[in-house]
Amino acid sequence: MPLVTTKEMFKKAYDGQYAVGAFNVNNMEIIQGIVDAAKEEQAPLILQVSAGARKYAKHIYLTKLVEAALEDSGLPIALHLDHGDDFEICKSCIDGGFSSVMIDGSKYSFEENIALTKKVVEYAHAHGVVVEAELGKLAGVEDAVKVSAKDATYTDPDEAVEFVERTGCDSLAIAIGTSHGAYKFKGEPSLDYARLEKISNLLPNYPLVLHGASTVLPEFVAKCNQFGGHIPGAQGVPEDMLLRAGKFGVCKINIDTDLRLAMTASIREHFVNNPSDFDPRQYLKPAREAIKNMVKHKIKNVLNCSNRL
Ligand code: G3H
Ligand code: 13P
Ligand code: ZN
Repeated sequence: MPLVTTKEMFKKAYDGQYAVGAFNVNNMEIIQGIVDAAKEEQAPLILQVSAGARKYAKHIYLTKLVEAALEDSGLPIALHLDHGDDFEICKSCIDGGFSSVMIDGSKYSFEENIALTKKVVEYAHAHGVVVEAELGKLAGVEDAVKVSAKDATYTDPDEAVEFVERTGCDSLAIAIGTSHGAYKFKGEPSLDYARLEKISNLLPNYPLVLHGASTVLPEFVAKCNQFGGHIPGAQGVPEDMLLRAGKFGVCKINIDTDLRLAMTASIREHFVNNPSDFDPRQYLKPAREAIKNMVKHKIKNVLNCSNRL
């Protein structure tokens, strides 16, 4: 089974009012945990790679691992660049075998974002690759760049329509109150559903993307803290709020922080309970299992995309 684009996946997700999980990958155990979960759940899957992940593991290692996952699992998988911030990184991923790229021009002016996105769309489409773009700015931490809550801007619905028309991007990431990382809300969590509904009504049959959508599962935060970690006050997007987003055209939900927490909680627990262990397989095996169980839970309860193949 070769890589697939997100075109067909998003059409089915839109019609079925569910979302496809886009999980950030950095190494073999993370990829295996996610892919095993999707296989058991018979769920569509997007594996995404950030610039930081490419720097950490190298493009070639990640694409070869994903190639192995495709062959081993037989699943249709899309391989996506997460938060490409210039034309060159998008081109490099398109030339290097990805089936989908994100050009994130959200830090630029509306017109500059359009010009950059259009350039990527032209190159990508000529090579059979789809493009996600972003309008509006999320708060939080991305590749060590921190956007404070006051610099975050929600997506303007009318601008979203103009942006999609003028760029031809295949999906659009919107800002409605989610943010990257483990500290998403200071008080009560809230998302701007009225804005989401308006965007969705103005862009019928068009796939929207929700970044910063980890729940920051309390059991993993508690386990990290119990076994020597220090992650006070971490809070994510409650699961029922994410499930609701699927009803308004959100076809892709991005999850990274929950993977990090699941893996770290498991490794911390292992070291405290097994202080003599030093073979990485002894702690990476349960960590991979923790990722798999967490992703299965997401597929069933948050994305609502079990048995959608
Ligand atoms: O949006 C950011 C993702 O969580 C990727 O994070 O850039 O540290 O790999 P990263
Ligand atoms: P989280 O930090 O909420 O997992 O968001 C990840 C993300 O949006 C990657 O692009
Ligand atoms: Zn993101």
